[in-house]
Amino acid sequence: MNKIVSKENIAPDIVKLVIESPIIAQKAHAGQFVVVIIDEKGERIPLTLADWDHSQGTITLLFQRIGFTTKKLSTFGVGDCLAHVLGPLGHPTRIEKLGEIYCIAGGVGIAEVFPVARAFKHAGNRVTGIMGARSKELLILETPLRQICDELFITSDDGSYGTHGLVTDVLKDLFGVIEKSTHTKYPQLVYCIGPVLMMQAVSEITQSYGVKTRVSLNPIMVDATGMCGACRCTVDGKTVFGCVDGPDFDAHQVDFQELNKRLHAFKNEERNIDL
Ligand SMILES: Cc1cc2nc3c(=O)[nH]c(=O)nc-3n(C[C@H](O)[C@H](O)[C@H](O)COP(=O)(O)OP(=O)(O)OC[C@H]3O[C@@H](n4cnc5c(N)ncnc54)[C@H](O)[C@@H]3O)c2cc1C
Ligand code: FES
Repeated sequence: MNKIVSKENIAPDIVKLVIESPIIAQKAHAGQFVVVIIDEKGERIPLTLADWDHSQGTITLLFQRIGFTTKKLSTFGVGDCLAHVLGPLGHPTRIEKLGEIYCIAGGVGIAEVFPVARAFKHAGNRVTGIMGARSKELLILETPLRQICDELFITSDDGSYGTHGLVTDVLKDLFGVIEKSTHTKYPQLVYCIGPVLMMQAVSEITQSYGVKTRVSLNPIMVDATGMCGACRCTVDGKTVFGCVDGPDFDAHQVDFQELNKRLHAFKNEERNIDL
């Protein structure tokens, strides 16, 4: 069970694993995630279902080597088994035919937005993708995204590929063009996954244009069953749990400042753990 059948380093510090997991593959929907425990002494880490294959009974996870567990997981190879993979967890993204949808992601969030963009496209929407990476070498999944998106904009922080700047620069430009145009209209929905500051900046722009926006939140999770409270966030002034109430929420109601603060709560402890 949970055997790694393929492993690929798709960008510096970003690893793609295909894992045998027939039951999760059968039940997976866009926007859901799994909790992985890599070995019997391992902690639980949430990773988004980047893809799945019903017929092969496999799921695909893409992760960034960021700390103790993801670094250790990156040492696993084809044939190795993960101790536990629990899922699919979280509510699937609400997929509807709305018209024009902007899917926006940054960094490893691009892997997380991919199945959502694909599902919106399959539901008959026109999908515009806006993907950002720090530099060209860190940009992932460009080819499959080009196949799904009706239009794809790429940005890089250092200007090494696509537009020099941030996803929010492209978003502002697009809204500027729409405002001046008599033929086009605003997107019916903006869907965004990425670093908290990026989601917050996207949310502020879309709020000023009155465009409905959903974000997939990434709070620290422990049990991912709604029992421990680690993933507590504030949305619309109420306490919600990212794992069981989310991970998708109305961006305009999220307290991003609190989310950011809670994500950094264990920074010192995380820094002091050696592999
Ligand atoms: C629903 C969800 C889906 C996610 N999907 C992906 C994905 O597809 N690919 C990917 O690369 N990352 C994803 N993440 C983030 C991933 O879970 C963290 O990077 C991972 O837990 C870090 O563990 P670590 O031990 O390597 O690093 P640590 O050194 O423990 O932490 C590094 C940073 O990761 C964050 N983090 C730590 N522990 C957790 C935790 N248990 N839950 C959430 N964040 C944590 C914190 O911001 C921390 O500062 C997702 C997070 C959530 C909540
Ligand atoms: S991770 Fe424990 S309640 Fe969500």
